Amino acid sequence: MDGMNHSTVSEFVFLGLTNSWKIQLPLFVFSCLFYLGGMMGNLVIVFTITFDAHLHSSMYFLLANLSVIDMFFCSITAPKMIYDIFKKHKHKAISFCGCITQIFFTHAVGAAEMVLLITMAFDRYVAICKPLHYLTIMSPRMCLYCLVTSWIVGFIHSLIQLVFVVDLPFCGPNVLDSFYCDLPRLLRLACTNTLELEFMVTVNSGLISVGSFVLLVISYIFILFTVWKHSSGGSYKALSTLSAHIIVVVLFFGPLMFFYTWPSPTSHLDKYLAIFDAFITPFLNPVIYTFRNKEMKMAIKRLCSRLVRYRKIS
Ligand SMILES: *[C@@H]1O[C@H](CO)[C@@H](O)[C@H](O)[C@H]1NC(C)=O
Repeated sequence: MDGMNHSTVSEFVFLGLTNSWKIQLPLFVFSCLFYLGGMMGNLVIVFTITFDAHLHSSMYFLLANLSVIDMFFCSITAPKMIYDIFKKHKHKAISFCGCITQIFFTHAVGAAEMVLLITMAFDRYVAICKPLHYLTIMSPRMCLYCLVTSWIVGFIHSLIQLVFVVDLPFCGPNVLDSFYCDLPRLLRLACTNTLELEFMVTVNSGLISVGSFVLLVISYIFILFTVWKHSSGGSYKALSTLSAHIIVVVLFFGPLMFFYTWPSPTSHLDKYLAIFDAFITPFLNPVIYTFRNKEMKMAIKRLCSRLVRYRKIS
């Protein structure tokens, strides 16, 4: 069996979210709006931070990098899902390589996002608890270092899991009850005992997501406690920034922890929860950060008026 490899299954078929016309149309509108809205919002953030000298600090550089990661992340699964919505059952197919590529990038980019979120929490911790050392600790070099680390961690995490999966024998069953490829469902299609592999995935992905979540929650509790102890004029602003970060963290990690640690992922719940990570979190990041942040809003206004002036001149 091992020698046959995946030669008999050359593509996988998605069941998608639904086959009912009544739901397909609203689903199509909903996912297009969220996908395009998320891409636009994140692009605006990256442009604003890049072109506004007032925002050239580590917090905003990290934010711009989070936007870049979010744009990658939602482009891995969303376009294919939107493209597939109106297709009939058997035609929602993805090639074997496409499936592996999807898994590789979701895990690499997802883990990079987790490390970046931890870096952002650390950045806020230093800014609030050690304000005098902020500029020396969170130097541009430190930011770059954290960024490179997050991508390296992402790629290593993803490679470790896939090394074992590409050699699995797939001999017939190829229907995935989902709208994207991911490991727990894919492993159950393999014609071999994958119990150990499933355990490895649970440990690898589950540990990374639960571990990062716990680390983030502890650091935010610590920061909130410090803010509360020294509450003065600046504390309202700190609280509003922090609560924005916390909302993002809970929305991003909630579904992930469910996928990788829930013992029997046979329910349909996980594919609906996946919508959160595929569409809603990448969309919410810019909404939360721009509409709650005065400096960002002012910077966007400055950028707009600069654009208007530039058009009048040229
Ligand atoms: C990401 O962070 C690095 C390091 O701080 C910064 O130089 C770069 O401009 C950021 N990327 C974006 C798109 O702003």
